[in-house]
Amino acid sequence: MVAIEVRPIPASDHRDARKVCGPWCCARRESGIILDVDADSRDRWSALAHRNRRLCSPVDPARLVTFIGQLPVPPAPYAVDLGCGKGEALRLLLAEYGGNGTGVDLSARMLSDAGGSDEAIDFIQADAAGWRPDRLADVAICMGSTHIFGGMAGASAALVELVRAGGVVILGDGYWRSVPSTEHLQAFGMEAGELTDLDRLVASVADQRLVPVAVQPSSEAAWDDYEWSLIRSIELWALENPDHSDVESFTSRTRMMRDTFLTWRRAAMGFAVIAAIKAPRTGAA
Ligand SMILES: C[S@@+](CC[C@H](N)C(=O)[O-])C[C@H]1O[C@@H](n2cnc3c(N)ncnc32)[C@H](O)[C@@H]1O
Repeated sequence: MVAIEVRPIPASDHRDARKVCGPWCCARRESGIILDVDADSRDRWSALAHRNRRLCSPVDPARLVTFIGQLPVPPAPYAVDLGCGKGEALRLLLAEYGGNGTGVDLSARMLSDAGGSDEAIDFIQADAAGWRPDRLADVAICMGSTHIFGGMAGASAALVELVRAGGVVILGDGYWRSVPSTEHLQAFGMEAGELTDLDRLVASVADQRLVPVAVQPSSEAAWDDYEWSLIRSIELWALENPDHSDVESFTSRTRMMRDTFLTWRRAAMGFAVIAAIKAPRTGAA
């Protein structure tokens, strides 16, 4: 069992139901289907949908290992992962370089699935938006969780403060490969401005005293694997638990995601992992 430290979350900070995952993952707004959804229902759905995955983002683990292996990370780093889910990105990083880390996530369900007896990682249940490590990190990760900070620019600005000069920031976020029609967006409960294109996404990282050194857009295969693993996890659970009170709302939401994925999201949405180095602060900066 992993030891999980629980930090109290102020009542005012209990997240709204739409902010469990990023917009690339699932609709956040109040479409007809998810009007009645509360934060806990959202968290239950997310934990169930991701139950058969270690990485809870549309990223291929083998490619992520290659990506991580290219970065200028010192031996035995201290690394932090905000919105860590099951801590898999952090675990892959530490498997490559050694060291130790801290994973922060709001969801007890996600953290309880972190599994293993990983003494190199401390897991903390807390709002990552207000969390600070007690020392500067060599690496800071925020993969698929940039919505905690209002998007990529906010996440970059937050993470740059958590690493030493020369440290590495690894961020993952969705982007538009092509902007869908207003009708498509409305059906999914999303606005065009919630994502940007890949060059602006990378630029928003570069704006924050960070120098991008690697960008890895996810393949269509990684997206297909991700979406269908979520759909499969929910549908198989629903077949096994037909009388569960969550079945109707969970399958409705999942099928809406399936249909929008097939009709337009598969072609329109991308996801990219970006690594950047923290530039030293210059006198002029
Ligand atoms: C799509 S998952 C990504 C998880 C992980 N980074 C990964 O890629 O495997 C988003 C995660 O953000 C977490 N989260 C959402 N809001 C949060 C907050 N304010 N503070 C910490 N974690 C949060 C969710 O519980 C969820 O585990």
